[in-house]
Amino acid sequence: MEIEIRLAPEEKRMAPNFEKLLFGRVFTPHMFIMEYNCDQGWHSPRIVPFSNIEIHPAAIVLHYAQTIFEGLKAYYGVDGKIRLFRPWENVARLNRSAERLCIPTLNSEFVLKAIKTLVWLDKDWIPKQKGSALYIRPFVFGTEGSLGVKPSHEYLFIIILCPVSAYYEEGFNPIKIYVTERYVRAFPGGTGDVKAGGNYAASLKAQEEAKKAGYTQILWLDGLERKYVEEVGTMNIFFVFEDELITPALTGSILPGITRDSVLKLASILGLKAEERRISIDEVIEGIEKGKLKECFGTGTAAVISPVGKIFYREREYLINQGQTGEIAKRLFDYLTGLQYGEIEDPFKWTLIL
Ligand code: COI
Repeated sequence: MEIEIRLAPEEKRMAPNFEKLLFGRVFTPHMFIMEYNCDQGWHSPRIVPFSNIEIHPAAIVLHYAQTIFEGLKAYYGVDGKIRLFRPWENVARLNRSAERLCIPTLNSEFVLKAIKTLVWLDKDWIPKQKGSALYIRPFVFGTEGSLGVKPSHEYLFIIILCPVSAYYEEGFNPIKIYVTERYVRAFPGGTGDVKAGGNYAASLKAQEEAKKAGYTQILWLDGLERKYVEEVGTMNIFFVFEDELITPALTGSILPGITRDSVLKLASILGLKAEERRISIDEVIEGIEKGKLKECFGTGTAAVISPVGKIFYREREYLINQGQTGEIAKRLFDYLTGLQYGEIEDPFKWTLIL
């Protein structure tokens, strides 16, 4: 399918001076949009000036949350080249999420072409300083106006772009996380392992409580026993015990993060042992108390590698690595961003140059 392009007026296409970028508040002048209905399938792909969209008040997404999304970034490299990082994985995950929510899947090659065409058109909006990037948000949602609970017969697939810097207010400094036992994010058999909008809606209450208590993010425990660590609000979690990297195994209620997978694969290059297994919150707390847990950090597209300096659990705050960024988190951050910004050779062929 050919993508029709309708350009925004010239004065809207000029990129502003990026000084302080709050995550997800500034959008580029264009967006990609495509529709689905049962007769035509996915059709009419086009890039249009960024604008509001009209939607039926009974659209399934508004009532029953039939919506999925992805997040990836385009990086402006030190060599002036623009790179996407493992975009194939995002497209594959988008389709896995689609399957889980009864949304018609998309042609992977075509989604990649849509992302590349849109990013190229708005390439002047990619911030040039390291640590900043263009966040790419593809999303799909049911638009059929019908209050019956069933999969929508109509959908929109949209891609929007935002120039961003660090996701957290702390920048890339250690964040503080709060363990909740009151709420759960996901349950075996639920949608925790896909990127469904509803997962995030269900997390807001706990996230607000953490924020009120002075913490950046929630650390979720498993839904059945509330015993095993699962993930943090917007990222996966890693612990460094002595010289070993441990992250919770993907048991079906954890999002399989692409940065998580990259860190697991980078570990061996950096001479670290890495293991995916169940890890209880008790083991984490004991590790901190006995001085065996050296570091903790989160991984995610938006969050990159975010060191965790403090954990709050059952009325107590525990300090990790004196609240400082650990050496392993720093090495992983440098290597990963080195690949993304074209500073080092990419032995994995993870980057796609536009
Ligand atoms: C991402 O890292 O792309 C995410 O999906 C986190 C987002 C919810 C801010």
